[in-house]
Amino acid sequence: MKIIIYLASSANGKISNNRNVPDWLSQEYGRGFMEISQKTGAVIMGKTTYNILAPDYLPLQNEGTMVVLTHDTTATPAKPNVVFTDKSAREIVALLESKGHQEAVIIGGTATVSEFIRAGLVNEIILVVEPVLFGMGLPMLEDVDIDLKLDLSEIKKLNDHTVQLHYQVQVQ
Ligand SMILES: NC(=O)c1ccc[n+]([C@@H]2O[C@H](COP(=O)([O-])OP(=O)(O)OC[C@H]3O[C@@H](n4cnc5c(N)ncnc54)[C@H](OP(=O)(O)O)[C@@H]3O)[C@@H](O)[C@H]2O)c1
Repeated sequence: MKIIIYLASSANGKISNNRNVPDWLSQEYGRGFMEISQKTGAVIMGKTTYNILAPDYLPLQNEGTMVVLTHDTTATPAKPNVVFTDKSAREIVALLESKGHQEAVIIGGTATVSEFIRAGLVNEIILVVEPVLFGMGLPMLEDVDIDLKLDLSEIKKLNDHTVQLHYQVQVQ
């Protein structure tokens, strides 16, 4: 299965600021977020990200599968296609494959992205670089003691100030 990370980033590589207000995100990032979620039909996120999005801004309606990493697997999901799980990254991939998915997108946040990078399961990374610098905030990765090499497959200018970098993760 192909696993893609799709994230907005500040120009200095942070995925959120300390204010935790999404006023730095472009419309183009939002559009891309919906498009890739619908294209893959399988979306992976952490519970903190889910809490920001649910119920109104989840990227899939009733189709597809949204997997949410959480230790609280007994909570009631906002939609029938939301799965709360405490399974490992590898088990989540197996679960999605068993549902017939061939690709999935990870939409954040740091803990969830780090989990899948650590497990060596990420094939592609799409970074939407917004024109901001954050002194404080969350990095893309935390507690990941490995280095990865990437191949740049595409650069797209999304508007006057925002670029999208599309990377393929090199096989180690
Ligand atoms: N720039 C972007 O594109 C973008 C996109 C999305 C989010 N964000 C930002 O990212 C931030 C959230 O990131 P985050 O790292 O704090 O949170 P996150 O990855 O969204 O969610 C973390 C939560 O997921 C659960 N979790 C993570 N790993 C788990 C595992 N192995 N097993 C079971 N549960 C697991 C835990 O939930 P429980 O506590 O319920 O167990 C944990 O508290 C927010 O500030 C948000 O704005 C940015």
